[in-house]
Amino acid sequence: MKRLALVTGGTRGIGRAISIQLKQAGYTVIAVYNNDEKAAQAFTKETGIQTYQFDVSDYKSCESGVEAIVKKHGPIDILVNNAGITRDTVLQKMNYEQWFDVIQTNLTSCFNMCRQVISSMRERGFGRIINISSINGQKGQFGQTNYAAAKAGVLGFTKALAQENATKGITVNAVAPGYIQTDMLKNVPEQVLAQITQQIPLGRLGKPEEIADAVVFLASENAAFITGSTLTMNGGQYLV
Ligand code: CAA
Repeated sequence: MKRLALVTGGTRGIGRAISIQLKQAGYTVIAVYNNDEKAAQAFTKETGIQTYQFDVSDYKSCESGVEAIVKKHGPIDILVNNAGITRDTVLQKMNYEQWFDVIQTNLTSCFNMCRQVISSMRERGFGRIINISSINGQKGQFGQTNYAAAKAGVLGFTKALAQENATKGITVNAVAPGYIQTDMLKNVPEQVLAQITQQIPLGRLGKPEEIADAVVFLASENAAFITGSTLTMNGGQYLV
């Protein structure tokens, strides 16, 4: 039977590329989205990938959402925690909501989702969890105390969960993309983005498909010896 992969934020941006490439690699894929129903419908029509709507920042939504998926499709073998938002502003202007929403969606979501699948993965002796972090969780970024904190948190979460499950056939890894050509960059002022692009030795933004390739590898049987690691993919902008 085909392995089942679930991708959060799986209908747009990097998540969309991950969903499509996991499907091409032979997995059954479920893409979870939250807000953009129109985009999700178009995505299913185009790719044949089924979508489910729920809010990964909310524990109860994840509980009922994953329960419905498992009931219909069976246990989840591969979980990609990709869903993320930005609310960029300097700390002295940041309100509590901008802080809290980013932490909940980008970091607490990892707990909310992993908590639903981990026991079943442990019982079955197989699992792949791939968390999408960011260059800005590694180096920090002006205007992103909320996002940088959440994405750095994802790296710690990944390393701890990897240790807890290493003997159970479950690997837990993070990918830390740099600046990738997606809708998320629409909120970055043009001049700022031009300056950032100049800092990338490769001289260009990344492509969602490039990140997806790495996720497909980490999901594979061949990546069984890689756990607790962070794959940095940023065109050389920040070297760790
Ligand atoms: N370093 C140092 N100083 C900076 C700076 C920087 N990077 N950016 C701005 N400043 C300075 C400005 O020069 C200005 O100084 P003065 O007051 O002396 O003139 C001051 O900070 C305020 O700047 P702004 O008026 O531009 O402030 P703002 O509140 O309107 O906007 C901002 C600030 C929101 C941070 C905006 O510059 C911005 O959006 N920056 C990009 C942030 C970013 O990279 N986000 C990534 C989004 S994509 C993503 O997150 C995906 C991923 O994983 C990579």
